[in-house]
Amino acid sequence: MSASIQWKRFQQHLCRIPPLEMTLDVSRMRFEDGFLERMAAPMQLAFESMDALERGDIANPDEKRMVGHYWLRAPDLAPLPSIAAEIRSTIEEIKRFARAVHEGSIRTSEASRFTHLLCIGIGGSALGPMFVADALGNPGNDPMRVHFIDNTDPDGIARTLAGLVGRLNETLCIVTSKSGGTPEPRNAMMLVDQAFRKAKLDFSKRAVAITMPGSQLDKTAKSHDWLARFPMFDWIGGRTSVMSAVGLLPAALQGLDIDNLLAGAAACDAATRGHDMHGNPAALMALMWYSATGGKGKKDMVVLPYKDRLLLFSRYLQQLVMESLGKRLNLKGERVEQGIAVYGNKGTTDQHAYVQQLRDGVNNFFVTFIRVLESGGSAQEVEPGVTAGDYLHGLLLGTRAALFESERESTTITISRVDARTVGGLIALFERAVGLYGSLIGINAYHQPGVEAGKKAAASILLLQRKVLSSLSKSPKTAEQIASGLGVPDESETVCLLLEHLAANGRARSDKSDVPSAMIYCKI
Ligand code: PA5
Repeated sequence: MSASIQWKRFQQHLCRIPPLEMTLDVSRMRFEDGFLERMAAPMQLAFESMDALERGDIANPDEKRMVGHYWLRAPDLAPLPSIAAEIRSTIEEIKRFARAVHEGSIRTSEASRFTHLLCIGIGGSALGPMFVADALGNPGNDPMRVHFIDNTDPDGIARTLAGLVGRLNETLCIVTSKSGGTPEPRNAMMLVDQAFRKAKLDFSKRAVAITMPGSQLDKTAKSHDWLARFPMFDWIGGRTSVMSAVGLLPAALQGLDIDNLLAGAAACDAATRGHDMHGNPAALMALMWYSATGGKGKKDMVVLPYKDRLLLFSRYLQQLVMESLGKRLNLKGERVEQGIAVYGNKGTTDQHAYVQQLRDGVNNFFVTFIRVLESGGSAQEVEPGVTAGDYLHGLLLGTRAALFESERESTTITISRVDARTVGGLIALFERAVGLYGSLIGINAYHQPGVEAGKKAAASILLLQRKVLSSLSKSPKTAEQIASGLGVPDESETVCLLLEHLAANGRARSDKSDVPSAMIYCKI
């Protein structure tokens, strides 16, 4: 494509959100002539579905739930006054609580105030808060230092706790789980509780729950008289919960500007609610995804923010996009196996890693660049007339051009700076693009049957492990013999892997054979 044609496309396909100083440039996507016109009718239907969702219709039919994350930043739009009231009162309560913690009026007898915050949660109950904390935090200046545990890995948990040695007395813990029954945060909470006991500190006096009222976690928090409980609403999905207490409470405690986070999201919502797809960046982005992937996920989305503060955005988007769009069935119940794979870290760092393949290797992706105008940090020149920030920017433009020359597509989102407003706006932009794209491909973007299936599969494996453990005796047996003895000969492989794990952790004795299937195991 000649430079003058590209210049015209740049002028034609730059979509702006003025209140956020944000633009979306889709001129380097190679959508064919007539594509936008052809997609006008399906996009109108997607807009209508989005309107219905925002009005409070059941937009998650499989779980028979409303989908209300847009109301969190515009409570007046909530379909019931009671919902608007609970959104407002939760925000007020979050601010009051954070203020009291910062002032030291909420504290324990062991310290003058809480200085560390340990957040426990997984998936949608972790990725949003982690992204916001990393994007907006300034360790050293923030009133609280934030730590996360988002797994059931005892070694990972121990490492996080090791960073809090001598500080547990000043540590406030938030346990977040919408369902209140997810094993990973439950396990992490138990290990953290144990660490507090060892330090002779009472976990419940510094524990806060964010969960649906009436959940197992809510009951635990209530019966053990935890410091506080905040609600997670039935009509909010995990991966779109960052503007609920799930994201706002840790952010407020860290000292971040939650009003502007909400205001940025609200401004983006206002700019992406309209039905003119040419002027609606969320719609345009969804259309670009459709054009690049054929509406069938044929290409992956590489997210490349050129800003260290946005590193976790790619991880956050990976869940938002893949858990929302990765579906076997469409809304008609037909098998479609949909989705868009998302990966990425940050530029320019990734240019020294996988960008080599992006430029020269298999062309199975499109890039979403995120460009931040203000460099921040030092403006010292590293070469005459050139700063480190100029390098970062120049490398973005250079990579984008190099990819385009080798027929690799990209979109570019530009923001002025990374602050609470723009972070709120970025989150809202992708939330709406995911919703609109979900409608274009006819799937339910708001449930996660695959996640639930994984949870059930793990539960049945742990049940089998219990049986294996109790069947171990002093007389050595192979995995196959143990599986047969338990009446599950078809599970020999799983039993073999479970025994290998138990032996590695000192809970079963094994001989020294090199071949796992030939090993014999007995009780310790
Ligand atoms: O987005 C989702 O719904 C999931 O990723 C959940 O957030 C995740 O499974 C954790 O669930 P919960 O918050 O119920 O513990």
